[in-house]
Amino acid sequence: MSGAAPPRVLVLNGPNLGRLGSREPDVYGSTSYAGLVERCTELGRELGLEVEVRETNDEGEMIRWLHEAADASLPVVLNPAAFTHYSYGMRDAAAQRTAPLIEVHISNPHAREEFRHTSVVAAVASGTIAGFGIGSYELALRALAGDRPHS
Ligand code: DQA
Repeated sequence: MSGAAPPRVLVLNGPNLGRLGSREPDVYGSTSYAGLVERCTELGRELGLEVEVRETNDEGEMIRWLHEAADASLPVVLNPAAFTHYSYGMRDAAAQRTAPLIEVHISNPHAREEFRHTSVVAAVASGTIAGFGIGSYELALRALAGDRPHS
């Protein structure tokens, strides 16, 4: 058996995502946050990745996590939640990435209210996956595990 540790990936979630399951299930589905954590870590195991899932309602904490990812060259799956639409501080932290960063959304923000049509993060992300429910995270993890080019 090889002793090499699997590559680490951070899955970072912004405000209100800890309330998945009870939060507007018609928009975000019935999977709880605990269920999301389980699906991401299990899929990570299948893909040979060590996935760590975090959630915060605090913009400063999210920015510190993005610095941590940049310093350690960790790939990130980022659901910035409402920060997506206005947080230039988070956007500037994401811009410092030293590894792929995939923006994900459970819903399709472009099919919703106008304020959700703007993402301040999209331009500094490797790519964006939106509208596939919890499956958006799975697609992002599969993209990170694959050998597709990421800029
Ligand atoms: C979201 C979409 C955002 O507009 C919203 O503020 C969220 C969740 C999504 O995953 O669909 O909190 O990022």
